[in-house]
Amino acid sequence: MAVTTVEQRKANYKWILLGQTLELSLDEKLLIRQTWSYKSSDMGKRGLDIFVRLFELHPVYRSYFQKLRDIDIDNLRESPKLRDHGGRVMVSITDLVDTMDSPTNLRDMAIKIGRAHFSRGVRHNQYRELFAIVLDYLQDKASVVYNDAAEAAWQKLFNYVLKVIDTVMEFEHDKTG
Ligand code: HEM
Repeated sequence: MAVTTVEQRKANYKWILLGQTLELSLDEKLLIRQTWSYKSSDMGKRGLDIFVRLFELHPVYRSYFQKLRDIDIDNLRESPKLRDHGGRVMVSITDLVDTMDSPTNLRDMAIKIGRAHFSRGVRHNQYRELFAIVLDYLQDKASVVYNDAAEAAWQKLFNYVLKVIDTVMEFEHDKTG
C-alpha cells in the first residue's frame, strides 16, 4: 500500500466528509441549545458521574485508562484523572453545541476527538455508549424541555459526530494496517 503523509490523510478525510454534512433545522438547534443549557456548571462533577455510569455498565472500559483498571467502581469517584477527562468531555460537547452553525469547524472538532483516541483503542461503541448516557443525563436534568423532538435532534448531532469519527478510524486503520 502507498505510504501517505499526515497532511494527505487529513485531506482525504475532509474530501470524504464533504459529502456528509449535518442538516439541523433552526428548531432542532434551538432544542439542543435549550436542553444543554440545563447542564450543571460543575462540568468535572457531571463528567465524572457520566464516566462512573459508563464503567458501571461496562467495567472493562476502565482499562482504557492505565491507572483505573484495578480501581473498584466505588472508588472511581476519587480519581482526579477521571474527573479531568469527564470535564473535558463536557467542555467538548459544549463546544460542539456552540459550533453547530459552522459545519467545517464542527467536522474538524469531531475529527480531533477521533484522532485523539485512535491510538488508545477507543472506538465507535465506546462513544455511542457514552453519548447514550449523556442523553439519559440530559433527560433527567432538562426534563422540563426534554421531549421526543429534543431527543431526535441530539441523536442527529451525535450520529453525525460518530460518522465523522468512523471515517477517521478507517483512515487511521489504513495507516497502521
Ligand atoms: C466525546 C467523547 C470524548 C471526548 C470529547 C474526549 C476527550 C478527550 C481529550 C481532550 C483527551 C486528551 C487528549 C490528549 O491529550 O491527547 C482525552 C484523552 C483520553 N480519553 Fe477521551 N474523550 C471522549 C471519549 C472517550 C471515551 C468514550 C473513552 C474510553 C471509554 C476515552 C478515553 C480516553 C483516554 C484513556 C484518554 C487518555 C487519558 C490519559 O491522559 O491518560 N475518551 N479524551
